Parts: sequence; C-alpha cells; structure tokens
Amino acid sequence: MFNILTLNKIAKVGTGRLGDNYTCGDDVQNPDAVLVRSAAMHDMEFADNLLAIARAGAGTNNIPKEKCTEQGIVVFNTPGANANAVKELVIAGMLLASRKIKEGIDWEKTLKGNGDAVGKMVEKGKSQFVGPEIQGKTLGVIGLGAIGILVANSAVALGMNVVGFDPFMSVPNALRLDPAVKLMKSNEDVMTNCDYLTIHVPLTPETKDLVDADMIAKMRDGVRILNFSRDGLVNSTALLDAVKSGKVAKYVTDFATDDILGEENIICMPHLGASTPESEDNCAVMACDQIKEYLENGNIINSVNYPAISLARTNEGDTRFCVMHKNVPELLKKILSEIKGNVENMLSKSRGDYAYTIFDVAGADAADADKISAVDGVIRVRVI
Ligand code: MLT
Repeated sequence: MFNILTLNKIAKVGTGRLGDNYTCGDDVQNPDAVLVRSAAMHDMEFADNLLAIARAGAGTNNIPKEKCTEQGIVVFNTPGANANAVKELVIAGMLLASRKIKEGIDWEKTLKGNGDAVGKMVEKGKSQFVGPEIQGKTLGVIGLGAIGILVANSAVALGMNVVGFDPFMSVPNALRLDPAVKLMKSNEDVMTNCDYLTIHVPLTPETKDLVDADMIAKMRDGVRILNFSRDGLVNSTALLDAVKSGKVAKYVTDFATDDILGEENIICMPHLGASTPESEDNCAVMACDQIKEYLENGNIINSVNYPAISLARTNEGDTRFCVMHKNVPELLKKILSEIKGNVENMLSKSRGDYAYTIFDVAGADAADADKISAVDGVIRVRVI
C-alpha cells in the first residue's frame, strides 16, 4: 500500500489512476509521496519515508528542491501539461496590451444609469480606446520551452513576426517551432528588437530582474511587455518608472504587486494561466502517472532534481534495488561489491552532484540493501 498526501485539490481524473494499492487524500499520514499545486512547502519537514513530491504544474519554486535532493526525495513536475492553457492566456494578454479592451469595459460601466442615452454616449466616447493591431508587429519570446513555443507559433499564425531565444532549447522543442520564428543569439537581442515581449523562463538567481531599468532603456520605445511566468522576472520599480514615462506602453501580468496595482497602462490579473479544467486534468494525470511509475518501478520521468531514468523490469522474480547516491568516483564499484546475487541488468544516470542507479538482481538477498545503505555516499536504497 502507498500513502499519497494531497496538499491542494488534485483532479480526480489523475488520482483515480493510482489504483487500489493507494490511499490518497489531504489527511493521509506518513505519506510515501506528496501531490501539490501551489502550496508552499519550504517550511515543511519531510519524514524519512517520503520518497517523492509531484507538482501538478511546471514551476517548482514552492518546493525546497535542494533539501529534497539531499534527502533522496525525487521532485517531479508536469512540463507541457498546462502549456496550451497558459498560451491562450498570453495571447489574450497580448490583445489586452494592444487594444484598449479592459479600459473600454471599465469606462462603459461608469455609464450605468444613463438610460436610453447609453448607446449615444458609447459611440461618442469610444475614440478614447483606439489601440494598434498585432499583425505585422514583432513579438519577442524569451524561453522556448513548452509554453514559449506554443506562444511563438500562435503569434506567427496571427501574422506577427516572431523572434526568440533559449540557450537550453531541446531538439524535440526545436522541431516543433515554426520555421518562421527567427532565433536570436541572446535575450538582449530579443528584448531590444521587438514591439511586444513575452517571458517564459523559470525564476532563478540568473533570471531574477531579467527585465530591469538598463534593459528597458535599450528596448524599443512603446514596447508592450507580458509576464505570465513568474513574479521577480520583471523589476517592478523599473517597470513602473518606464510605464509612467511612456517608454513601456503597456504591461500585462498575472503577478500583481502592491506597487503596480491600479496604475494606468498596467493590467494585473490573478495567476490564471493554468486555471482551466483541461489543464488541471492534464497536470493531475501526468503527476499521478509519474508518481506511480516511481513508487512501483523506481523509474524517473520529468524530475527537476534527479536524472531521468527508465529500465524495464528484466526478469520476473528479480529483486530491484534503486539506489540514490553521490556522483563520485568508485562509488558504484563499492555498491556493486555489496550485492551478492547476479546483476542481470543495471542503469545508472547522474545529474550534477547526484546519481541514481537501478540494479535488477537474480538471487538477491534483500538484506543487502542495509549493506548498500552503509556505503559512504549512498543517500537512499529501495528494494522493489
Ligand atoms: C505553472 O507553474 O505550472 C504555472 O505557473 C501555473 C501554476 O502555477 O499553476
């Protein structure tokens, strides 16, 4: 039996896939795994038996990844599962940044009570709400991952010129990118050559304040900036100054901060990118499938702290040892020397300072796990 603790509401279409061997809920004790959306986990203590945390979403900045890595807890996310939902909101944001839709709606509400005169008042006043079309303009996309690619391709379909940059673009992502998207050499190349800018990177020490006063000064006059990724990517003080001076024509974000709320030419909305039933379902299914595969077979798919690894079961009856360990010379040799049966198959992958190895052993003694655990540099051993 496995215990799964849910820290947020996780769609049933996902948890329903776990099967009869699982107890899943928000009051589950001693969890083997945790399912989470946005709940903050940084101040939580993790018991020794916690094996995995799966975020039903892309960003994992609510999870203390370093602490998890040291404790041998695999952190999963669900890249791409909410990409379409976020893309649709970004496109809406781009139109809000261009046409004065929100301003017009807000103004019309002020006409309430004018009876039959409303129609004429609207016609007379609407000229205040002229805004440019996006067709033929240039969109800059920072980050060409699951979301950035969909945004870039949709913008091409809407008749925009699109420039983008991503130093970490994977081959599958590159193949999905519309060939009309022009790849630039740096973030700065993108940010200084566009009329609309959208950012799709995680918040890290390297990306914090990606859009700051210096960078804004180099951008085109009247640039419109969208941030539907993370708070902190855009320096709000610099942004506010730039909006007030007219350098930035409009800022649209789903990360409100007190200083920008209610300011003219800034549109803030709740963080709604993934708030669609479709995306909640997709994220839950992916998170639950990944947890199940890890708990039952030790295979790791879409982890943000341990390497991706998948080894099909070798022979029925073999014992599978899953070992998390430091990525240091000679360690595998020492682990192997503690396994007494015949190693039928093994796979080892590393990620930075850490590594993970699966051994399928015939004629093993499960008690060897204790001896493996005692090897210096071994973090966790599971026998499944
Ligand atoms: C994500 O990280 O998946 C998105 O920002 C949406 C969310 O936080 O739920």
